[in-house]
Formats: sequence, structure tokens, C-alpha cells
Amino acid sequence: METVDLLLTHIGQLATPPASAQALKGAAMSDLTVVKEAALAVRRGQVVDLGSQTELEARYAAEEVVDAGGRAVVPGFIDPHTHAVWAGDRGGEFEQRLAGATYMEIMTAGGGILSTVRATRAASVDALVAETQRRLDRMLAHGTTTAEVKTGYGLTLDDERKLLDVIALLDEQHPIDLIPTFLGAHAVPPEYSGRTDDYVDLIVEDMLPDLAYVVYTVTPEDGPTYQQRAASFCDVFCERGVFDVPQTRRILEAAKVHGLDLKLHVDEFDPMGGTTLAVELGAVSVDHLVRTGDEELRLLAASTTLGVVLPGTPFGLGSTYFAPARRLIDFGGAVALATDLNPGTTWCESMPMMMALAARYLRMTPAEALTAATLNAAHALRLGRRLGALAAGYQADFLILDAADYRDLTYHYGTNPVAAVYKRGKRVAGAG
Ligand code: NIG
Ligand code: FE
Repeated sequence: METVDLLLTHIGQLATPPASAQALKGAAMSDLTVVKEAALAVRRGQVVDLGSQTELEARYAAEEVVDAGGRAVVPGFIDPHTHAVWAGDRGGEFEQRLAGATYMEIMTAGGGILSTVRATRAASVDALVAETQRRLDRMLAHGTTTAEVKTGYGLTLDDERKLLDVIALLDEQHPIDLIPTFLGAHAVPPEYSGRTDDYVDLIVEDMLPDLAYVVYTVTPEDGPTYQQRAASFCDVFCERGVFDVPQTRRILEAAKVHGLDLKLHVDEFDPMGGTTLAVELGAVSVDHLVRTGDEELRLLAASTTLGVVLPGTPFGLGSTYFAPARRLIDFGGAVALATDLNPGTTWCESMPMMMALAARYLRMTPAEALTAATLNAAHALRLGRRLGALAAGYQADFLILDAADYRDLTYHYGTNPVAAVYKRGKRVAGAG
């Protein structure tokens, strides 16, 4: 018999997208592997085998056996779009919006993102780490095992650097693995008000050439120390009144020269052609897509760029207008789901909540929602060859659900459907 570190037994239903070197597109998003009466074998933090319980019990002797008690098991969620690091509070704006003010009106009047920028600039690294830690704890409890985190509430070289430092510290301290994105182009800061092009110059000439080369050292508990870039991606809020398409192009072309991968916020409020630009530049993902029309959806579907949809954002804004994810999938595109966790539009840490919204308002099936929250979300971070599926060679990041059927992730909402969270084969949240 072969020895493994962990054998997870009595899995009532194991549901996972298949291993895939590319994001799953169109109809393939529904191709889940679903095994009943299953077991999962883990060695050195990786999945070695999965399949029928009787077969695996005969094949492996395990250091540790965990009984899943007939519950469902799925891959850990990947949240590929968050603005998790901020200081301050926008509860007052939330109330203004309930009374009829729009998100963009509040932003143009110097509130919105800029009010969070003021609070975040004033906060210390320690304060930001402490506040963000609590959000990461809630993300983990709801099943997120890897997350992207954007800067974008600093908007000076030093303040953006401070946010990258906070992300690096949290990446080291917290069980969730964090993928950092530089979003210096999140808003035009007050000192550049009315001079957007000058701020774009600052990003292109000062911020990117500096921040793209910041490297930090990671010391994992159970492996060798390695060096990691402080930013993996560059993102731009391409929106009317923020950054237009030519400004977005300038920033992203510069980011590409410095070796960063690209992401864009597009069509959250007004369609501007950002999706066409994303495809042309070979962006890894294009995010929001609330107002994207069929022509650009078809272009996106035919490309290698993923569409990341964020149903918590319209929901958080009290809007009933959601991204046309159903059309993008029907056109053959690849869709990933994310929270957009931020203090303005979406204060929600829960990927299951996004899945519940996606099923109802984006018309995604439970199987598509699972693929979008796991394998495709991993591909939206270029990590889909080792994260986002339960298959031999993939990292053993998985969830035991408080349910016998993975479809409860979309069906049952408003409570936490995740009973236990395992990262690299070790329990990091929940009760076994
Ligand atoms: O993705 N749209 C830009 N950024 C965020 C909102 C950030 C904020 O309001 O603080 C978003 O919705
Ligand atoms: Fe966002």
C-alpha cells in the first residue's frame, strides 16, 4: 500500500471541474466531475488521487484519516477580484444612495473612492493589516483559499507602495494566498483633479517603473524561501469620468513593458469599448461587464481573455441590472466569479453569496457557478494549472460543505454553507 498524509473519506459527493490548462469556455463550464461515496488522497499538500471510497481505502495507508460524514466536498474558492485593503467607512454614503444619489454622483463630488483614499492614506501599515485581517478571516470562513487584492486607495507612489507592503505582510501571515494587483488608476486623486492626463503621466513615468520591480521575500512554513514581485497584475478603472480608453491603453501598454499581466474594470456603469481594448492587449481578464453589448461579448468569447463577473456589485448598489454572463457563456466565452469586496459598492466577503446571485440574476447553472468560482477564477489569476480543481497534481485546497450536494452553494443562501476549509491538505478554518 502507498502511504499518503491525508485520506478524506465518506465524501457523500465530490464535485469539481476537471484539471485544465486553460479556462473552461462555453458548454465546457458545465463539465463537472461528480463522484458519490468518494475519497480524496493528499500527499505533501497536493492531491494524489480521488475516486471511489472502497478503491482508495484499498490503495492507501494514511497518516491522518478525516471522515467527511457524507457531506459534499468542492475545491477551495478563488476570489480573483477584491479591493480588500482599505481604512474608513462609507456607511453614510450607503444611506445617501438609498435616498437616491448615484455612485458616480457621490464620486464626482469628492466622496466615494476618494473618501476611502483619504482614510487609507492616513492609516498606518499596522492598522491596515489589522482591519484587512478580519476581512480575510471572513473570506476564509466562507471558503476562499486564494484571493487577488488590488491597491488603489493610495494613489501616490508611497501610498500605493504602502498597500503593496500590507498585501505582502498579509500574504505571509494569513492562510489565504494573496495575489497583488497594482491599481494606481483607480481614481484621479484630489491633487490631480481636472488633470487626469498628468496623473496618467505619474503612473506611467513614476509609479510603474518603480512598483513593478518591488520584490518581497516569502518564507513559507514548510518550504524554501522565495522571492515574489509585489505586483503581479496592473488594472485600470476604465469608466466615464475616470480613465477613458486612450488613457487606459497608455497605462496598460506601459505595464506590459514592465512585465505585468493585465486586468481591466470595464462597463460597470457605461459601455466605453474597454472590452475591445482588453482583448487587443491580451489582458488576462476583463471585469464587471455589466453594460457590455453583444458585439464585444462575441469578441471576448472568441479570445483568451476571461470575463470576471461581480454580481455583488449591482446587488450592493441596489441595482437590478446584472452582467450578461449567460450570453457570454452561450457565445462560448469563459466566465469567472468574484466578490469585488470593497467599501463602496460591495462589502461582502462571501463567494457562496456571489454564486447564489449568479444563479438567480446571471442565469448561471450551479455547475457553471462552481467552475466560475474555482477553476476559471484560478485561470483569471494565471494559477489554473495548480489551483481551482481537485485532480492529481493540484494543490489540496478544498472545502467540506455543510450540505450533501454542491448545488446548495447556489440554492441555500444567507448562511455559511462551508463547514471546514483545508489549505495544502491542512485544516485552516471550520470544525473538521
Ligand atoms: O470595482 N469601480 C471601481 N472600484 C470598485 C469600487 C471601489 C469603491 O467604491 O471604493 C468596484 O466597484
Ligand atoms: Fe473592482
